[in-house]
Amino acid sequence: MTARAAAMKAEGREIITLSQGEPDFDTPENVGEAGIRAIREARTRYTAVAGIVPLREAIREKLLRENDLGYTLDQITVGCGAKQVVFNALFASLNPGEEVVIPAPCWVSYPDMVRLAGGKPVIVDCAEADGFKMKPEALEKAITPHTKWLMLNSPCNPTGAVYSEADLIGLAEVLRRHPHVWVLADDIYEKLVYGKARFATIARAAPDLFNRTLTVNGVSKTNAMTGWRVGYGAGPIELIKAMNVIQGQTTSHTSSISQYAAIEAIAGDQSYVPRFAAEFEKRRDLVAEKLNQAPGLTCSVPDGAFYVFPNCAGVIGRRTASGRVIETDTDFAMYLLEEAGVAVVPGSGFLASPYIRISYAASVEELTKACDRIITACIKLLQEKAA
Ligand SMILES: Cc1ncc(COP(=O)(O)O)c(C=O)c1O
Repeated sequence: MTARAAAMKAEGREIITLSQGEPDFDTPENVGEAGIRAIREARTRYTAVAGIVPLREAIREKLLRENDLGYTLDQITVGCGAKQVVFNALFASLNPGEEVVIPAPCWVSYPDMVRLAGGKPVIVDCAEADGFKMKPEALEKAITPHTKWLMLNSPCNPTGAVYSEADLIGLAEVLRRHPHVWVLADDIYEKLVYGKARFATIARAAPDLFNRTLTVNGVSKTNAMTGWRVGYGAGPIELIKAMNVIQGQTTSHTSSISQYAAIEAIAGDQSYVPRFAAEFEKRRDLVAEKLNQAPGLTCSVPDGAFYVFPNCAGVIGRRTASGRVIETDTDFAMYLLEEAGVAVVPGSGFLASPYIRISYAASVEELTKACDRIITACIKLLQEKAA
């Protein structure tokens, strides 16, 4: 899909890309300036593997102030994005064949990272009717004596689902019966929560699980800093130490310049964050409203992140004007690319079908144009005789 979109662009077709996993905003000026200052002040040498002390101090204060979670500095590690933190945790902890429970739809990197680390992903399908959230009964069923981790991601990529405190308490009741299972809470979309929904994280919702929870977060999505590569994890000291060993023999640490910029992102002026969130919320409403006008698609309104995950069951089995049958969500995504010039990601990439993921981290003008084109493409498809 990506290759096809690039080839079409090279041919001069105007493609609207809604497959991106990053905010379309620039890094805020105060943060950029902190990075420039770090270069000017020659803060450009190797740092401690776990990250510079003032950054870990800023993270410690953030977790206490905003999440009511109390960590010491040596319980905090900084990596090259939240991605490396998750990777380090899995590599530091998984023995061959150990299982990781992953609610799906999920960020595609989780199962691949588990496999790379020698573990076994155990995918738990979460129904759209349940808001794409895992029920306690499903978690109970998925746990075996070989389970090492439960991965939780709220707000979720790709569905935008947000687990409430009550949802997490329900899952915690199950986890309490299985003390060998650790929890990885990927909170990277924490600040992108809309309407009445409230962000919650399991180490706070169930304090008795604090000692077996790794809380992961970062500046990529909240602070529009995806390219700076700064994420962090906070958890049990033995785990953090082992993660630092992995990092020490791979990347060593993330860029010193990025670390200084991240201090400003986490401890400095963040008045732009509510502005970003308000803008995303407006776009979410626009996109969901429009996509529900597309015959064959149904789009629920998610509570967080910057994605919608419309169901495209209504277009499966339909025939395009050129006679091709849309058999899967990948076929549909390819059709949208070819017919409408809009690039989206098929749900199968997130282990859920038939859906597509649309990122609304794009301008209102682009989103309006893209949705109008999707509506037209769906109308065309539904006008053709069914296969
Ligand atoms: C759920 C989730 N976790 C982690 C990440 C990675 O974040 P980072 O850019 O900080 O590595 C992403 C990025 O797409 C994500 O969607």
